Amino acid sequence: MADKPARGLADVVAASTALSDIDGHAGRLSYRGYDINELTGNATFEEVSYLLQRGTQPNPAELDGYLAEFAAGRVIGPLAAADLSGIAARQQPMEALRSLVSLASADDPDARSNESAANLRKAARLTAQQPVLIASYQAARTGREPTAPDPGLGTAANFLLQLSGEKPEPRAAEILDACLVLHADHTMNASTFAARVCAATLSDMHSAVVAALGTLKGTLHGGANEQVMLGLEAIRASGGDPLEATGRQVAERLRQGEKIMGFGHRVYKTEDPRAAHLRKMSAELGAATGDDTYYRMSRRMEEVVFAEKGLYPNVDFYAATVYHYLGIPTDLFTPVFSASRMAGWTAHVIEQHADNRLIRPDSEYIGESGLSWVPLGAR
Ligand code: ACO
Repeated sequence: MADKPARGLADVVAASTALSDIDGHAGRLSYRGYDINELTGNATFEEVSYLLQRGTQPNPAELDGYLAEFAAGRVIGPLAAADLSGIAARQQPMEALRSLVSLASADDPDARSNESAANLRKAARLTAQQPVLIASYQAARTGREPTAPDPGLGTAANFLLQLSGEKPEPRAAEILDACLVLHADHTMNASTFAARVCAATLSDMHSAVVAALGTLKGTLHGGANEQVMLGLEAIRASGGDPLEATGRQVAERLRQGEKIMGFGHRVYKTEDPRAAHLRKMSAELGAATGDDTYYRMSRRMEEVVFAEKGLYPNVDFYAATVYHYLGIPTDLFTPVFSASRMAGWTAHVIEQHADNRLIRPDSEYIGESGLSWVPLGAR
């Protein structure tokens, strides 16, 4: 008989990885040995993506080559393009991305190969393509012609350009770039684990990241950022002083045993280091827009949740107001998370394929046993 499972696999070490590391007690996160606090603001998303997928900080020539791969990857294949308008009309953003990434495999020349060189090429292409898929979906559902990428801009600036059709302010692009850096990888989170389980069957990278996309979508994981914003909007719309309403409504919801989205974490027992950066960005953007109400409501919410439950905000909490202030539609918040995490997911697939063993845990059987089957006709 199998042992009792750790509920939700808490504290189970499910894989070895050289990609990222968390110290949940000290509140530290690093990618390949570089502290996230050192990378944020100093490394671009493309450099971090290269670091994760290819193992080292790129030198200038390596970065140039990688950026050229990204520029070439900012396209949608013919099959995904042909289905885009139907998908945009009938599927929610994360459902649409699940479909579009799956369709994109048809137009990837390396789709069926798990060879190391093919995986490296696909990882760059998938990471370059993800923001383009999101922006194209937005253009399709709003009846706009897609905006062509600007070869002089990086991933974050191109995304904002393609999303709205207008070139972003440099500081907005810088802030989104830092957000992409902060979300790029995070050890054995649920979506990464899903990707690794899929890859470990020797399935291909597109299949693995489709599994990850379906997993990120849920509100206990990447879907929480959208819920945070919807929660803030509902409180503000309820009328009265928004800070007073925040304090009162959040305390009441906690008393009723409800979870407050954007708080708590399986691994961090102290503040999530990513939340500290995102809080500052939210404050800056709130002040710059001239209406920092959502930022101040978030601060109030943070105080109440800490006072009542001792819980800290996670990465999704301040990401919500940052994306809101950047003008990103609320239902695209989780897709933006996926645009960043694609760098990590694909790096994990590369790592899994390089040293593979099927991931197949056991289960504890809690059902009946020894029953007799009486065929229907014999009753
Ligand atoms: N609000 C209120 N109470 C909470 C919250 C919350 N956000 N999070 C945890 N708790 C409470 C639970 O109710 C539970 O209390 P109890 O012991 O009295 O029953 C206790 O803390 C433990 O909670 P679990 O859900 O068992 O903790 P777990 O480690 O399984 O969950 C999780 C972690 C899913 C992130 C949880 O904190 C949560 O649901 N948060 C809200 C959703 C969210 O923000 N998700 C994004 C996480 S970050 C990411 O995935 C990118």
